Amino acid sequence: MSYTSRLTQAVIDLNALVSNYQYIDSLASNSNTIAVVKADAYGHDAIKVAHALRDKVSLFAVGFIDEALALRSGGIDTQILILEGPSKATDFAVADEHNFSLMLHSDYQIEWLKAFSPNAFDQKSVNLPTDNPSQMWLKIDTGMNRLGFQISCVERVISQLSQSQQSQLVLCSHFSTAEQLHSDKPLAQLAKLKALVAKYNCKFSMANSAGILNWSESHGDHNRLGLALYGISPIGITDISNPLVPVMTLTANIIAIHTIKTGETVGYGDVWQAKRETKIATIAIGYADGYPRNAKAGTPVFINGEIAPIVGRVSMDMITVDVTDLLQVNISDTAELWGKNISIDVVAKYSDTINYELLTRVSKRVPKVSLS
Ligand SMILES: Cc1ncc(COP(=O)(O)O)c(C=O)c1O
Repeated sequence: MSYTSRLTQAVIDLNALVSNYQYIDSLASNSNTIAVVKADAYGHDAIKVAHALRDKVSLFAVGFIDEALALRSGGIDTQILILEGPSKATDFAVADEHNFSLMLHSDYQIEWLKAFSPNAFDQKSVNLPTDNPSQMWLKIDTGMNRLGFQISCVERVISQLSQSQQSQLVLCSHFSTAEQLHSDKPLAQLAKLKALVAKYNCKFSMANSAGILNWSESHGDHNRLGLALYGISPIGITDISNPLVPVMTLTANIIAIHTIKTGETVGYGDVWQAKRETKIATIAIGYADGYPRNAKAGTPVFINGEIAPIVGRVSMDMITVDVTDLLQVNISDTAELWGKNISIDVVAKYSDTINYELLTRVSKRVPKVSLS
C-alpha cells in the first residue's frame, strides 16, 4: 500500500522539461543536445525525466555507471554517456553489455581499455552507424584542471587507440567560467580543443548550459545540457534565458500558526527575536528534506500569492515564517519554497550556496510528483 501522510513534495513539471529541452536544442541546431541526468537528474528523478525525454533525446549523460544502470532498470534503453568514465576495469564489460559510452580521461583507463578484449571492441565499432554517439570519448583538460588528459599527452594517448577507435573519436572538454560573459577563458579553452579537433579531424563536445547560452562558437557535435534543462539559468535572466521554465516546485504545508509577543524568540538558539507581536507559521520542511539549514532570516517563502520571510533557524523537519502581514493564512495552506514564484537563485543567495546544490540536495523523503 502506498500511503503518504505528509504533504511536502517536489512537483516536477515534465511539460516544462520538454519545452526547455526543445528550446535549448533549437539554439544549437547543428549540435546533438545531450541531456545530463546525473545526480538523479539534478534532483528531479532521473527515471521520470528520462522517460519524458526519451523520444527527443538520443544520448543521456550520467556521472558513473551505477547511475546508468539505474536508468536501464527504470526502462530506459537510450544510449548513455558516462562522464567520469570507468571507475573499475570491469566497467568496460558492463558498458559493452548495456550500451554505455565511457568518457576516458586518464592513462589507467586506457590500460583497462586495451586489456578489455580490444578485438571485440573493434568489431562492435565497425558495426556502428557513423553518427552513432557510441564513440571513443576522450576528455581533454583545457584549463579546468579537474579531469582530462593534458594537451601534451593527447598524441600519445590517441596513438594507442585502434584505427576504428580513432575514426570514432570525440574530444570533450569542460568550461570553468562559461557563465562569465566577460571572461577570456572560455574562448581560450575552446581554441585549445578546436586545435586538436582540426588536427585529428574528429568530433567534439565543449558546451554545457552556460556554454550553449553564452558562447555559440562553442556549440559542438554534442552539447551537454544540464542545469538549463531544468529551467534554471546559469547566466541570470537575459533575453536568451528568459524562455526557460523552472521544472521543480518545492512545496510544503503550514502545520501550525501561533502569535508571539514582542521580545519572544523563535526556534533553536533563540537567534531571532520578535520586534512586534508576530504571527508565526510553521511549515513542514527542513534540512532533512534538503532545505538549506543556513537559509538566513528573510529568505522568501510564497504563501497564498504573497511573500513572507523565514525567521529563526531552519530545523530538521520544519521552518518558521513571519506571516503577520499576509492577508490570509490558514493551517494546511501550501507554501512554495522555490519554483515558479520563488526563484531558487534567491534562496541560494540567502543560503550562501548555488542553485545546483539546492536542486541536488532535495532528499529522498521528499516525494517527486510529476505534472504532465
Ligand atoms: C562534464 C560535464 N558536462 C556537462 C555538465 C552539465 O553542466 P550544466 O549543468 O552547467 O549544464 C556537467 C555538470 O556538472 C559536467 O560535469
